[in-house]
Amino acid sequence: MQIGVPKEPFTGQTLVAATPDTVKKLIKLGYEVVVEEGAGIQASYYDDQYREAGATIVDKESAWGADIITCLDTPPDAQLQLIRQGATLISRMNPNGNAEIVTKAQEMGITALAMDAVPRISRAQALDVRSSMANIGGYRAVIEAASHFGRLFTGQVTAAGKVPPARVYVIGAGVAGLAAIGTANSMGAIVEATDVRSEAAEQVESMGASFVEIPVKQESSDGYAKAMTADQEKLALEVYTEQALKSDIVITTALIPGRPAPLLITADAVSRMKPGSVIVDMGAANGGNCELTQPGEVITTENGVTIIGYTDLPTRLPGQASQLFGQNIVNFFKLTTPDKDGILTLNMNDEVVRGVTVTLQGEIKWPPPPVKVSAAPAAPAQEAPQVAVEEEQASPLGWLWKGVAGILAVLLIFLSPEEMRSNFVVFTLAVVIGFYVITSVTHSLHTPLMSVTNAISGIIVVGAIQQMSSNDPVVLVFAFIATVVASINIFGGFTVTDRMLKMFQRS
Ligand code: NAI
Repeated sequence: MQIGVPKEPFTGQTLVAATPDTVKKLIKLGYEVVVEEGAGIQASYYDDQYREAGATIVDKESAWGADIITCLDTPPDAQLQLIRQGATLISRMNPNGNAEIVTKAQEMGITALAMDAVPRISRAQALDVRSSMANIGGYRAVIEAASHFGRLFTGQVTAAGKVPPARVYVIGAGVAGLAAIGTANSMGAIVEATDVRSEAAEQVESMGASFVEIPVKQESSDGYAKAMTADQEKLALEVYTEQALKSDIVITTALIPGRPAPLLITADAVSRMKPGSVIVDMGAANGGNCELTQPGEVITTENGVTIIGYTDLPTRLPGQASQLFGQNIVNFFKLTTPDKDGILTLNMNDEVVRGVTVTLQGEIKWPPPPVKVSAAPAAPAQEAPQVAVEEEQASPLGWLWKGVAGILAVLLIFLSPEEMRSNFVVFTLAVVIGFYVITSVTHSLHTPLMSVTNAISGIIVVGAIQQMSSNDPVVLVFAFIATVVASINIFGGFTVTDRMLKMFQRS
């Protein structure tokens, strides 16, 4: 099938739905890719790069006339009319807030897949364009703040005096908030953050910030906050205000799905903030988390506080944002092209595919059945292995293998010569303990774990040194080889661990 990548029709949209890198990946899945002339220029991806990647450069009509069209947002009518009946449109559609697209897709007899409706479950993270864009947005929010803030982020001691670090306060520790925390922290600021969801505290701290408690706490089963009562809002506002007054930069990212952005920073709080402070209101498009925000604008108040209300932060990093968006699209195609034969296969029993399907060949499929979503946006990386282990433990086949291995181990011990028996017992216990230790340790810590266990092979060196007194040249050669190999094992393991741990240290 042919995938069309048109030039984005909206003024100000600098992103493109496929980059030369993601085009290559789509072709590997068996698709033919056609790209509209100049589609990637604003993101610095040129036609020649697309050609080199294997795409064909075509005119506007051919790009919109492909079997499958992938673009950023629901196109305007002029472009929709170029889409053939029976074709598939993949883009952000906001089908809950834009009922028109549902009826239009029905009338046109097309399949409409809304990439902004990907359910928030671990398995679907790789295709969640909202998370990718919020991540870029959070990063860019800090960069915007830094460029409007007249001081350094990092503290310094210079010959001309001491420079204090900037204090950054982030409200809302979802995808965008965590990205902002990580960025501000890496730039040397002192970062504090708040969220209503109590489980966010651990994630905030793991990103290097301190968690500021608010008197209102919510346990969330779906990663989203719920609206507060008026009394709760009043209590929370006191904390936000107190924090804002002692911060240099406030970044607000609070979101409650389906509702206007909650008010976090009042006009009164702004009037009492320090001159030179900066507020970046990421909720600007939803009405703003700050009372004075002007969506799309940067304003400076009379007391010298700059309020940034940009609603297009990802488009200010078009190269990277296009790459992440394009990779989300590739991941969607990986899911829907299991045979890598260039044929889009929409399995309606798959909750992710079902969750994004607005219409299927003109038949309305919206809204999809509810999906039980994971607890927190940042947790999936840890969740996936847990699921795997749970499945493995519960599987009858797994128990069968363990049973067979146990019987073989017992037979080995009983059938072995008397003098070897105790060695086999130790060996069997070592295998069992080793298995449980290694499977219980997270993958990222396997390297340090292995280097410590490698060090146990130091016992080989002791044995080999004992053999050095032998007159037999064969024994001497083997003792020498054993010493060298065991030493490489020990020192190599620690060297690799050392290099790995340095990756986590600030230079
Ligand atoms: P998210 O749902 O992952 O995170 C929102 C967080 O706010 C949640 O952790 C929630 O618990 C928290 N929250 C809600 N009400 C709160 C309150 N009263 N106090 C403290 N915390 C509260 O959402 P995501 O993906 O991080 O996006 C955040 C916001 O950024 C959204 O409004 C999104 O539309 C916006 N956004 C803006 C961009 C721009 O260009 N301005 C770009 C990308 C995202």
